[in-house]
Amino acid sequence: MIDPNRFLDDLHALRRFGAAGVGKGVVRPAYSEADMAARDWLASRMAEAGLTPRFDAMGNLFGLAEGPSLLLGSHSDSQPQGGWLDGALGVVAALEVARVSTGSGGPAVSVVSFQDEEGRYGVTTGSNVWSGGLFQADADALTDHDGVPLGQARQVVGDRAGAPVDPAQFTGFVELHIEQGATLDTAGEQIGVVTDIVGIRDRVITLTGQQNHAGTTAMALRRDAFQGLVAFSSRLNERLRNVVTPQSVWTIGHVALSPNASSIVPGQVRFSMQWRDADVARLARMEAVIEETLSKVAAELDLGVEKGPLLGLEPVAMDVDLCAQLEAGAEMVAPGKWRQMLSGALHDATNVARCMPVAMLFVPSIGGISHAFEENTDEADLVAGLHVLAHAAGL
Ligand code: GLV
Ligand code: MN
Ligand code: MN
Repeated sequence: MIDPNRFLDDLHALRRFGAAGVGKGVVRPAYSEADMAARDWLASRMAEAGLTPRFDAMGNLFGLAEGPSLLLGSHSDSQPQGGWLDGALGVVAALEVARVSTGSGGPAVSVVSFQDEEGRYGVTTGSNVWSGGLFQADADALTDHDGVPLGQARQVVGDRAGAPVDPAQFTGFVELHIEQGATLDTAGEQIGVVTDIVGIRDRVITLTGQQNHAGTTAMALRRDAFQGLVAFSSRLNERLRNVVTPQSVWTIGHVALSPNASSIVPGQVRFSMQWRDADVARLARMEAVIEETLSKVAAELDLGVEKGPLLGLEPVAMDVDLCAQLEAGAEMVAPGKWRQMLSGALHDATNVARCMPVAMLFVPSIGGISHAFEENTDEADLVAGLHVLAHAAGL
């Protein structure tokens, strides 16, 4: 039988790897010591649950049931500052469902913790490579914000890496996740059945001016990279208004100013430009506005522009039959307290949809906070999500 206490104990145990900050914060970015230690611990829990643990060369960790099986899971890496549930919930709930299933001779259930969902190297990298959306060689050439190539970072997987895991052995994929927004919490509901996951575009942009003395360089003569970024960002906010809906979002989340000193006119700024929307045509219109605004600002301030590769994922619809199973489970576990909803966050399910039917369910995030140490969910809601997942797996 599904054991909520065993599941919650595992969830708290996983949080110990990289525990940081206030509340239940976690720092466990892909390929860090904490990430790999967490994966080794998960592999041992998978083996105890009667599954065969298998790492692939990216560091994706599978717990394999024999023969064709339903795949459940998510990711166990975190943002540079993250919470204890983003990804971890889906992996640990999958482990509990698989453990019960193997122990009781139930339907075959495998488990996965994908690597680098949080995008140290872009966008859901581990599941993207595994599902054939990105060649390993192209992934290896991606660099993080410190310039470390993925090909170098993933060496820490070392001889854990076994044979590739064939997606064809899985009949479908179901991912339980926290909502990471405030919809369910505000409505006092317990379960969200995801209908679609939005699409995303993400690229690194570098503006280059002239590094110079902050006391002697007249304002009119400056080619200040920071001023370029500020002008770009504020003009972009104005210009995008004409093409977006209230659901469209865009973020400059990472900025590296060079040389970042009080008495130097900054010569260079490198920043991330990310935008998301459920409509692929709108993503393209947003891209055009971004390009145009960037070119105009660069020309006005006499700055050079360099653009990194445009990474992205398309909007994806969930499988209707798997959704129906989740809806039936939601009505059983939380009658009248569930809804269908869109996911504004990215998930590995988007990539896995290339290979098999996929579905997702959400539980509430208290105050809608996530990608922050304060991220949390009532334990009763975590357990409700676990029960709906188990129902979808045929338990
Ligand atoms: C995934 O964590 C995302 O950025 O939506
Ligand atoms: Mn996540
Ligand atoms: Mn996340």
